[in-house]
Amino acid sequence: MSRILIIDDEPSIQDVLGDILRDEGYEVLLAQDGLEGLRLLKTEPVDIVFLDVWLPGKGGIDILAEIKSEWTDVEVVIISGHATVETAVRAIKLGAYDYLEKPLDLGRVVTIARNALQLEALRRENAALRQGQFLEDDMIGETEAMHRIREVVGQSAPSDSRVMILGENGTGKELVARMIHSRSRRSNRPFVEVNCAAIPDNLIESELFGHEKGAFTGAVARRRGKFEVADSGTLFLDEVADMSLEAQAKVLRAVQEMTFERVGGEDQIKVDVRIISATNKDIRKEVEEGRFREDLYFRLNVIPLSVPPLRERQDDLPALMDYFHNNLKKGHNDVSPPDFSNEAMKLLTEYFWPGNIRELKNFIERVTILVDEAEVTEETARYYLGEAGSRPFSDSSQREYDGMKLGEARDLFEKRLVERRLEANGYNIAKTAQAMGVYPSNLHGKIKKYGIEIKK
Ligand SMILES: Nc1ncnc2c1ncn2[C@@H]1O[C@H](COP(=O)(O)OP(=O)(O)OP(=O)(O)O)[C@@H](O)[C@H]1O
Ligand SMILES: [Mg+2]
Repeated sequence: MSRILIIDDEPSIQDVLGDILRDEGYEVLLAQDGLEGLRLLKTEPVDIVFLDVWLPGKGGIDILAEIKSEWTDVEVVIISGHATVETAVRAIKLGAYDYLEKPLDLGRVVTIARNALQLEALRRENAALRQGQFLEDDMIGETEAMHRIREVVGQSAPSDSRVMILGENGTGKELVARMIHSRSRRSNRPFVEVNCAAIPDNLIESELFGHEKGAFTGAVARRRGKFEVADSGTLFLDEVADMSLEAQAKVLRAVQEMTFERVGGEDQIKVDVRIISATNKDIRKEVEEGRFREDLYFRLNVIPLSVPPLRERQDDLPALMDYFHNNLKKGHNDVSPPDFSNEAMKLLTEYFWPGNIRELKNFIERVTILVDEAEVTEETARYYLGEAGSRPFSDSSQREYDGMKLGEARDLFEKRLVERRLEANGYNIAKTAQAMGVYPSNLHGKIKKYGIEIKK
């Protein structure tokens, strides 16, 4: 139901306007003056304001300016008994939707309310569309794990239940969160993301809950927090395990009661927000070791969803590669997808993919744009995997040890490790020894034992 706030000190106007709008099926809130109106706006979701320009205390035009700067998508209709052209023009310039004269023409009141609501809905939809542009990728993958994820997304999206998404870096946690939002009844409302790891501890409270002007040095104006911006939509708490315990306590209360105060403020702000959280940490361990509040964990983890690392769903690799190729082709007409040799494909399927899908996407982009040969060889593939390409490969590195005695395997592993670490440290013995936690003399001994070549 749409909500309309009437700010007018004349009881007769409140009655007449209130009655007709209620008859039309709107919920009506009343305020005697501008300040009361602003107070209500802070705590109640409102779609349209009918505002008298001639108000006791702070004038209507000032209130209009404040409303439009704070609540940009609330439409304001000005009412005036002493209609002057100047006031009307000024009001419209300040962002008023329309202008009504007393005595009120009730037919016009109804039309204006209807049109203003339509405009507001349209604006919200556009905002949602603009956000949707970030949802550039479809979710690709036909492995069991991916089907399971789609199933859980489908089941949990329509309800308001809280979902906690677990998975390594770049596995697609944010993509999953956006999918849940876009399939929920909140889809044309905001999807607001907060990266809890990126915000310094001392700012997180104000980032989440907003602050009043003057709440702390630098708070030059009132600001709405993410919880408020996400009202009636979805709030995505990304990297949620990286929040300080202090911030967790505040979030717990907000999550439980859907009520909070801005920093430096006293008003209770009520919101309706669906919360999706994500982390790449082992959150149960964080709970066990006292770094994450158990009560908050239970609140957020109503529906757990694990996104598997790419190395555990290698069967999806070809489809993902094709998909990223094709997307690139849309952007650059002249690129043709290179073919990968069998050896190159084998390399990619055995590779560990520490950066998961994000790494694969970057890799395909580099290869597609930079490689001229018709076929990508294993060597080229290894080259474009970059530094990471020289890290141990999951399966192949294990298979190498098959059939070896423990001593032999241990020596081979040690040799490889020393080689890699030396290379990573530019063959600086002191630096490598320190990084590996051994004495330089000890490292020298191993270099000699394994006949490792010191380059440069
Ligand atoms: N199944 C998939 N199909 C196609 N593209 C995907 C898939 N999963 C992820 N992507 C793409 O891979 C990139 C990384 O995904 P996303 O940002 O969702 O990962 P994340 O888990 O949130 O990563 P991080 O932990 O680093 O924040 C994005 O560009 C996303 O669109
Ligand atoms: Mg992410």
